[in-house]
Amino acid sequence: MSLVLDEHRQYLSDTIRLAAFRAAIQEVIKPGNVVIDLGAGTGILGLLACRAGATRVYSIESTGLIQLTREICQANGCSDRIQFINELSAQASLPELADVVVADQIGCFGFEAGLFEYFRDARQRFLKPDGITIPSRIDLVIAPIDSQQLRDQVEFWNTAPAEFDFRPVKAMAVNNSYPATFTPDQLLGDPAILASLDASDAPPSLLGLTATVTVSKPGTLHGIGGWFSATLSPSVTLTNSPLSENRIDRQNMFFPIDQPVPVVPGDRILITMSILPTDMVITWKVVVQSATGNVNKASFSHSTIQGMLLSKEALQKTKPDFIPTLTPRAEARRTVLELCTGKNTLAEIERETYRRHATLFRSLDEAAKFVTDVTTRNTL
Ligand SMILES: C[S@@+](CC[C@H](N)C(=O)[O-])C[C@H]1O[C@@H](n2cnc3c(N)ncnc32)[C@H](O)[C@@H]1O
Repeated sequence: MSLVLDEHRQYLSDTIRLAAFRAAIQEVIKPGNVVIDLGAGTGILGLLACRAGATRVYSIESTGLIQLTREICQANGCSDRIQFINELSAQASLPELADVVVADQIGCFGFEAGLFEYFRDARQRFLKPDGITIPSRIDLVIAPIDSQQLRDQVEFWNTAPAEFDFRPVKAMAVNNSYPATFTPDQLLGDPAILASLDASDAPPSLLGLTATVTVSKPGTLHGIGGWFSATLSPSVTLTNSPLSENRIDRQNMFFPIDQPVPVVPGDRILITMSILPTDMVITWKVVVQSATGNVNKASFSHSTIQGMLLSKEALQKTKPDFIPTLTPRAEARRTVLELCTGKNTLAEIERETYRRHATLFRSLDEAAKFVTDVTTRNTL
């Protein structure tokens, strides 16, 4: 089963998402425009741009999917207007400046799929001074969540699964965020906009955000829910909000807290989030204040740093006084790269790598696979 194809089948099956992008593209793109489809996937946004009158589209796709993108665009009679670039956008270069860049690198919570970094780079290198980004703005939205089911996901590690003690995992589990699909009844109060960010103006390296929400119904606070609302064009918004009738088919994000807290209407929940966008590190602090007076009922502080799977050995390797040496496989990789002089054939490189690193590979075939892996990633 191809997970990649299945992912793109889902993108293309989401009629609300497609209708929003189609409407925004029609509103923004003018006949004669040069457009960048950043993270092209199947090429759908570039095809919509052609239909809206774009003269030229640069489809940038970093994976092998680009081959299919090409064939799909050809099948739709657009290949004369679309140029394909098989690179990460940060490594791509374009022969001209574009009028519009369009992408759906929004993720579940608005920032974790890299949109801001990609668009900042596009704004600096690819766009005309008055160029437009689709989306142009992303709101990060949060709300208090009551969900025993999500709580159970974290608590699972305390339940002696398979009759063994897995409690050491719990501390890590509560310091992770979880994809989830919230229903309106799980919201304990109205959502708040945590941040409203210009999509082409990458946020600072550390985003410190705060919001206060008031509980509107009795229940149990299990964590904070996050989602996004993206302005695609002046009249089109795209959202995965559980409260929207036009919610796209994309999960939300759940940030758990260590202990459930019973809440009543009028209780206030102070939420502080610190986000390191490029490192995808999020810290969330949650303080629950009682409706009567400003008494703190509970407070929690969690961070994905505590939820990272980092071994002691890996951490040791990040210390400035650590003296690194190459592993045997890295030595073999260096051999392959050194042999790529522009004169040796692949077969020669395979034989020589096998000869020099015979203890590493069980056969010439195994060495050949290793060499192909290195050369396809690193050579022209
Ligand atoms: C979320 S999918 C969207 C695909 C398509 N644009 C759509 O709307 O259906 C993102 C695609 O962009 C590619 N991608 C992600 N970041 C990229 C980058 N910085 N440069 C080029 N391709 C990227 C991924 O491999 C994936 O195929």
